[in-house]
Amino acid sequence: MENRIGNKIKPDTEVRTQKIEPDTEIRIQNREINLELKKQNKETDKVESQLNAEIGIKDGNRTEKATELLQKPEIDSDRFFKFIDSSIQGLKEYRLIVSALELGVFEALRTPLPAGDLAEKLGCDPVLMPHFCEALLSLGFLDRFEEGIDKEGEKAQIVKRDEAVSQDKGKSEIGSKSHDNRKKNGGAVYFVSELSATYLLESSTFSQQHYLAERLRNVERWARLPQIMKQGPDIVEKEPFFGEIVHCMAENARCGLLQETVKVVMENVDFTNVKRLLDIGGGHGLYAIAFSKLNEDLQAFVFDLPPVTGKTRYFVDKYGASRVDIIPGDFFKDEIGSNYDLIFSSFNPGGKVPSLIPKLAEALNPGGIFVTRQMPDEKMKSSPFLSLDWNLWTFEGVKKGGSGYSFENSIPFTEYIEVLGNYGLEVFHQLDLKDGSRTVFARKTT
Ligand SMILES: C[S@@+](CC[C@H](N)C(=O)[O-])C[C@H]1O[C@@H](n2cnc3c(N)ncnc32)[C@H](O)[C@@H]1O
Repeated sequence: MENRIGNKIKPDTEVRTQKIEPDTEIRIQNREINLELKKQNKETDKVESQLNAEIGIKDGNRTEKATELLQKPEIDSDRFFKFIDSSIQGLKEYRLIVSALELGVFEALRTPLPAGDLAEKLGCDPVLMPHFCEALLSLGFLDRFEEGIDKEGEKAQIVKRDEAVSQDKGKSEIGSKSHDNRKKNGGAVYFVSELSATYLLESSTFSQQHYLAERLRNVERWARLPQIMKQGPDIVEKEPFFGEIVHCMAENARCGLLQETVKVVMENVDFTNVKRLLDIGGGHGLYAIAFSKLNEDLQAFVFDLPPVTGKTRYFVDKYGASRVDIIPGDFFKDEIGSNYDLIFSSFNPGGKVPSLIPKLAEALNPGGIFVTRQMPDEKMKSSPFLSLDWNLWTFEGVKKGGSGYSFENSIPFTEYIEVLGNYGLEVFHQLDLKDGSRTVFARKTT
């Protein structure tokens, strides 16, 4: 800043203490200068006070900013970060397993291998592979031993693994032969764990390959969530959908649900009186197949949509079920047959449709039993994710119901159970299974 006489002035006390000589001639000038200086000083004071004020404000801001900086959110951040991090961790774990399947890691590790050899075999990056294997190990999908260490323990583990995959009808390469063959280059050697050998190897009795493929399609749908939210539900073709889902349900059922269901039905129905059984919407037909295997005099029928019955045929042949016949048809339109002693209905889309009850009741012999299983609606309602998931897709021209597993023409399962009585089907027992589904037993009384 400059004063009018060109001197540089600083907005500080130096200017205010400047001395003027008391000479007359100069006095006038000095007075003028004084006046000027006073004016300047006033301006300087103004500037100074302004600056001080500004500094004050800045200080205030600094204080404010410091306070803001040290302030914590009122809502605990742990909840937020834990939620995001655990969701993403789940996604990573899922991607790891799916990638291992895609790369053929589990099949390759039927023979124990060091990570380097595995990388070479699968054409993968040798630096990444040990990390990949360790991550799978941490989830229990691989096992590991150290080459040359704890030979006895190692052998025991391999024998154990061999037993785990023995259900592969002897196809497993794991055993003493592969043990001898593996590289003797030291370090960690990886092999399939019991978990992956049981559920992920293609040849395992309990392989969940179709189930995982179905889960992948579901994840892919969720990846398009913003698009679906704008454009509406995916339109899915009924027959290919059921064809796939039926294989997936067969794999799932083999892991406990089939055994539990068959046991419960056998305990609550006198099979000495059951000669003809209909598994309606039976899909894979495993229930009909199991009932026929357990009851020598039983003739079972699986009714399903024509394109889906190819899958039924596959399972009937697989288990050599000579007393299981297949009836292709649409239960909403076609005849379902007659003179049945037992009709078994599990998770089929007609299972909560009241307009189908007269058809079912009519197809039963007097005293015949209707066994029906569905997920109770209250369970669906309490799961907004399930309801959203269910509503992200539909069949052409079909409207879904409000909650999961319900359609426009269906009613809540509890209401459906009550309606059975109107058609002479008297409910005599109902129970919930481990998967949360409800199984209802009714007898035709008229
Ligand atoms: C969810 S799966 C259930 C399969 C099997 N009952 C189970 O519990 O594992 C539904 C079955 O109903 C069959 N289905 C659906 N609509 C049908 C219709 N209109 N007529 C005959 N079967 C039908 C499907 O093809 C599929 O096999």
